[in-house]
Amino acid sequence: MLVLGIESTCDETACAVVEGEKTILSNVIASQTALHAPFGGVFPELASRQHIEVFPEVLQQALKEANTSLEKLDLIAVAEKPGLMGSLLVGIHFAKGLALGANIPLIGVDHVEAHLFSAYMSATEEILFPAIGLVVSGGHTLLVYMSELGSHQIIGRTRDDALGEAFDKVATLLSLPYPGGPLIEQLAKKGDPQRYRFKVGQIKERPLDFSFSGLKTSVLYQVKGQNAHSTPLLSDQEKCDIAASFQRVAFADIISKTLLAVKEFGCKSILIGGGVSNSSILRDLFFQVSPIPLYFPHKALTQDNGAMIAGLGSYLFSLENKLKVVN
Ligand code: KG4
Ligand code: ZN
Repeated sequence: MLVLGIESTCDETACAVVEGEKTILSNVIASQTALHAPFGGVFPELASRQHIEVFPEVLQQALKEANTSLEKLDLIAVAEKPGLMGSLLVGIHFAKGLALGANIPLIGVDHVEAHLFSAYMSATEEILFPAIGLVVSGGHTLLVYMSELGSHQIIGRTRDDALGEAFDKVATLLSLPYPGGPLIEQLAKKGDPQRYRFKVGQIKERPLDFSFSGLKTSVLYQVKGQNAHSTPLLSDQEKCDIAASFQRVAFADIISKTLLAVKEFGCKSILIGGGVSNSSILRDLFFQVSPIPLYFPHKALTQDNGAMIAGLGSYLFSLENKLKVVN
């Protein structure tokens, strides 16, 4: 089964061709990072216009790299939710047009589930369910319960900023360019994670929910002083120590809440996805403490991409057809 995956939920325009569920023949991603950098975050209207602009070229490239053509595809999968409204509409209409024109079945998939599916695509052993899924990106911070692959129930979510967004905002405070997550990781390697005692918000009545806005404000006060008006010059070492201290508490929070969820729901494995899961520090910390098997995506699959959409589409389509045969 040859599947085309189409992704445009936020600021990446992506097409990929996947054979079956896991064999990636091409994975083309046109990132809009440079376009949004001056705004310190994604500018939704610009994002959808850019998707329209680059989709045809991204598709051609994906088909070429996979050495195939539209007529040879068995299925088109598109990320249909959640995401920026305008960006989603562009991807969905592009996919519908292709499917209709070439007479290929079309399936819509959930972007959050696809992030977790990317961990499955990268795994070399059988994953046991039920599992806990953690999606950490610039747009999402979610804990989900997965009774099986391709299904999820949200059990924890952020009340304010997404984790990646908090990394990006702290990076801006440290005068680093957008997106700041990878740069914070680099600075943190040279810093003292115990120097500043930042705290992450806890929600008493919902212990699996997240809150990073207070943490971000503590960093703001540390950088600018208590009245947050002045901008004292920080030494390079102070910047590294702030990055390391922020990263330490942020990661400790998501790891402890994931393990709490594992215990509460009696889960047998953990799947992780999203841009922040690219962090090697997060991976090391998680592996050190997880009592059950832990699955991260290959680094090339952590950011938004079409391969995870195609893989999940392929899996769900086969499942639907199997059910039809059984019925
Ligand atoms: O999944 P993604 O590519 O896009 C969406 O937001 O959907 O995630 C991008 C986010 C950005 O906020 C970026 O700063 C963060 O992932 N990120 C990281 C790292 N690499 C990317 N955050 C912390 N450490 C990293 N190494
Ligand atoms: Zn995403």
